[in-house]
Parts: sequence; structure tokens; C-alpha cells
Amino acid sequence: MLFVLFSILTVGAYGSFNILPVVPFPQEAEMFSTNRRSLNVEEFRITTDQGHLLEDKVISSTINRYQHYFSRFKPGPLSPDGDITQVSLSVVYPEASLFIGVNESYTLNIDPHSPIVKLSANTRFGVIRGLETFYQLYNITDGTFPSVKIRDYPRFAYRGFLIDTSRHFLPVESIEMVITGLAMAKFNVLHWHIVDDPSFPYYSPSFPSLSEKGAYDSNHVYRIFDVLRVISFAENHGIVVVPEFDTPGHTLSWGKGLENFLTYCPGQGTFGGDYGPINPSVDSNYEVLHKLLAEVTSLFPGGFVHLGGDEVPFKCWQSNQDLVAWMKQQGIQTFNDLESYYEEKLLDIVHQLNTSYVVWEEIFNNGLHIQPDTIIHVWKGKWEDTMGKVIKAGYKTILSSPWYLNYISFSMDWKKYYQVEPYKIPGATPEELSLVIGGEACMWGEFVDATNILSRTFPRASAVAERLWSSEKQTNIGDMEFRLNKHRCGMCARDIPAETILLRSYCPVEFDGYDW
Ligand SMILES: *[C@@H]1O[C@H](CO)[C@@H](O)[C@H](O)[C@H]1NC(C)=O
Ligand SMILES: *[C@@H]1O[C@H](CO)[C@@H](O)[C@H](O)[C@H]1NC(C)=O
Ligand SMILES: *[C@@H]1O[C@H](CO)[C@@H](O)[C@H](O)[C@H]1NC(C)=O
Repeated sequence: MLFVLFSILTVGAYGSFNILPVVPFPQEAEMFSTNRRSLNVEEFRITTDQGHLLEDKVISSTINRYQHYFSRFKPGPLSPDGDITQVSLSVVYPEASLFIGVNESYTLNIDPHSPIVKLSANTRFGVIRGLETFYQLYNITDGTFPSVKIRDYPRFAYRGFLIDTSRHFLPVESIEMVITGLAMAKFNVLHWHIVDDPSFPYYSPSFPSLSEKGAYDSNHVYRIFDVLRVISFAENHGIVVVPEFDTPGHTLSWGKGLENFLTYCPGQGTFGGDYGPINPSVDSNYEVLHKLLAEVTSLFPGGFVHLGGDEVPFKCWQSNQDLVAWMKQQGIQTFNDLESYYEEKLLDIVHQLNTSYVVWEEIFNNGLHIQPDTIIHVWKGKWEDTMGKVIKAGYKTILSSPWYLNYISFSMDWKKYYQVEPYKIPGATPEELSLVIGGEACMWGEFVDATNILSRTFPRASAVAERLWSSEKQTNIGDMEFRLNKHRCGMCARDIPAETILLRSYCPVEFDGYDW
């Protein structure tokens, strides 16, 4: 049998071949033949010869999930007793735990002559990725699969998505649906911007007053139980949760539950109020931060915390005469230096907690002293210049500037997200580019809550997901449009209300209401 490189089959042939309808598109795919295999829906099982794998929570929940998805299909009209009956899993390192950069590679083999599809992965998290590819290869209309061999792995280690639960609270069920959709696009990081100026919905056992006073009300609080539920659900989908506790700005809601924490500045504070950023001159504030972050880093197992550090306004600090006098006494000359004083103390605390951190780009732009393993999160304009400087200085970086999905407009903005190339940094060497570890799509919460987060996120986020997972050569817009449309239908068939991307279209199985 002649093995044909899949890319040769599809190049320039949009519309005339059955393009593998997978998003993100796999790194390598070979067609065994153009013959399609049908699925035996009634006998279909996901199994493994490695019996102990079934006792694992990640594997068993993943098997249940995909078993459930396939159980919804009726036997195909063309193949009442189809030929594929099993997916057989094997994992080389079943004990590997989840972290950013864990090996997610897999090979998927839909052999034209065997009833058993083979899926092998380096870790349990590759199984999650491989089963999603298997699902997407299925043609719901005629009940068949292509005969294909896929070898796949992510281009970037960090493929993130930001949710914001401070501006608008998201119930845990809503966060879980977001995670479910993210896994369908092979994202691996949920950046949980959990608190900010508007509300403080995180319940801290060390400082219960923070959510008692800072949440919208007692029904809009994530208790430890809720946080653990989100973390565990995300782990079952191969997604690391990175919590963000943004300081010293964006902390208005903290001030309600903590005495003497924020800087007092009548009329000069956040939103023109009486309080501004954390007061860096108060020693006990660092004890609060230490205790809170110790709690947070022991609760979230990902090994990373996001420390924010963006948009610190100096107006409030400037207008507080006690603070200005204290600065003089300390020999701190500018407000930029004051911010550095604060950040260096904060970063020392987190370093003592053996936790790595991500910070918004201002921390780098302001020349602060940071640990070598810090990830700089670039979100402002001229990202090519900023990222160029960050990698020249030897720091890892992730990109969000072009991927603020909360900005919406009429028409097909996914194309704009898709056409971004994170390596397009003028003058960067290959070694420097290796410090670009990925990117993150952001869904800030100003106009987003559980009513619209899913349709606003999907499938637009999947265009970013493909850029971060697939080969950089994967750039054909027409090909992507075909696949993205199919991908959105695959989401709709699985209870994610992913919005339309074409002027007119339909799905074989339409979204028919929430089934939480
Ligand atoms: C991941 O695992 C695969 C299969 O075991 C291996 O070929 C590959 O080199 C690994 N990737 C990395 C980045 O270690
Ligand atoms: C699925 O099968 C139907 C019927 O054979 C075909 O018209 C359609 O193009 C296929 N869809 C995809 C995405 O290949
Ligand atoms: C951090 O790691 C060091 C060295 O591995 C260890 O001695 C120390 O106890 C750890 N600290 C915390 C807070 O886990």
C-alpha cells in the first residue's frame, strides 16, 4: 500500500478532498488509503492492556467522557455493524503528573484492516489529546473514520486561556464547561484571574474577611471545596490551573476586608475613590501576602502563580503625605522605585515558597529584579518589540496582546487571531525564540458571565489554540475555515454552544440546550 503524505493530499485542494477535520491540526498525518472505516457504535469500547491504568482518575474520567460522547451516536446508516470496535490505549509513563511542559505527545493509528484503533502516549495527558483527535476524525453524518496514522505533539508548552471571576462571577459549572471546551481545542492552562478591583470571590481560610467583605455577596464565593473541584476537573482534562492574585494595583476589593492595607488617598484612588494600590510602606502587608500566597500555592498544584503587577497608578501614592515622607526616609526617590521596592519584596516571598511565577509585562518593562525562571506575560501593543527585549534579557515569555477575545466585532475575527505568528520577532535568534513558550487567549469579564462566556469563547479561542499547538506552517485560512466549522459542530454536539463562523451553515447535530 502506498503511503501518501497527508499534506500532499490537501495542499491547494480545499474543497476537493476530505480534509482531516481536526483543530488544532496534527503535526504529522499519513493516510493509509482513501477507504473510510465505519464505527460499530453498539460494541465500541475504549480499553487498555495496562489494567492498572483504569484505576487512574484522569484516565478513567477521560475514558468515560469519550465513551459517553460516542454513545450518543446512532449506528451509521451505511454501516449498521461497522468495523471499528475498540480504541486500545497505552501509556509509557503513567505516573507522570500534570505540569506546564508535561509530554502531551501521542500516536493514533486507524489501521484499514484492524477493528482496534491504537492510541499510544507518553503520559496520561497525551491520551486526552489523542482521544479528542479521534473524536474529531469521526464523521457524524455517515458514521465513518478516515484510515490514518497520526503522530502529534504541541508546538508550544504553554497554551493558556484567561477567565476573570472578579468583574462577573462564574459559577463552578460554568467554569467546568469552559474547561470542557478548552480541552476540545487542546489548551493546557487555565489562567484564573480570580480577584481584582470589583470583587474578591476567593475564600481564604487565613483571611476569611477578604471574601466576607470583598465578594459581591456570600453566594458569589469560591470555597476551598469549589477551588479543589475546578482543579480536579481541569486535571482530568489535562489543564493546569494558574491562579492570579494581581497586586499592588487592581486590589480595591481586598481593602474592604483588611485594615490599613491599601493606600489612603481621598479622591485620588481607584475609580476616583479614597483608596489606591497596596501601601508598600506597611510591613504587616507583606506578612498578609506571605500567608495568603503560602495558602494559595499549597492549594493550587501547578507550581505557578500569576502575580499580576500591571497598571499601577502613581497618583494615589503621590497624594499620601505619610507615604511620601516614608519614602524620603528610606531613600526611595521615584514612584517607580517604590513599585520596585514592593515587587522585590513580593517576589522574594514567592521565591521562598518554591513557586514559579508569571507576571504582566510591566514588571519587566520597569526593570525590576526578577528570578530567572519568571515568565513575562506580554499584553500591550508593539508586542514584537517587547517580546524581543524580554527574550534578549533571557526570560521566558507568553503572548496575549493580539488575543484579547473579549473585544468583539462583527464578522470573522478568528482569522486575525489565526494569522498571528509568535515567532515573528525581528532579529531574534533561534535560541532566543526558544524562550517564547506559548501564549494565552484572554476573556476579560467586563461584559461576560455564565450567560455568554461559552459562545463568546468558542470557537474563536480554537483559532489561537491551533496557532499554539500546530506547526507554524499551518496557515491556510480556507482549510482552517472548513475545519473550524466542523470543530464548532463537534462542540455543539457535545453541549458547548459554540457560535457560528460562516454566513450560512448547519451542523449535523445542532446545539440543543444546556445539559449540565
Ligand atoms: C515525548 O514523548 C515522545 C514519545 O515517547 C518522544 O518521542 C518525545 O521526544 C517526547 N517529547 C519531549 C519534548 O520530550
Ligand atoms: C461526512 O460525510 C458526508 C456523507 O458522506 C459528507 O457529505 C461530508 O462531506 C463528510 N464531512 C466531512 C467533514 O468530511
Ligand atoms: C523549598 O525548597 C527547599 C529546597 O528544596 C526546601 O529546603 C524548603 O523547605 C522548601 N520550602 C518550602 C516553603 O516548601
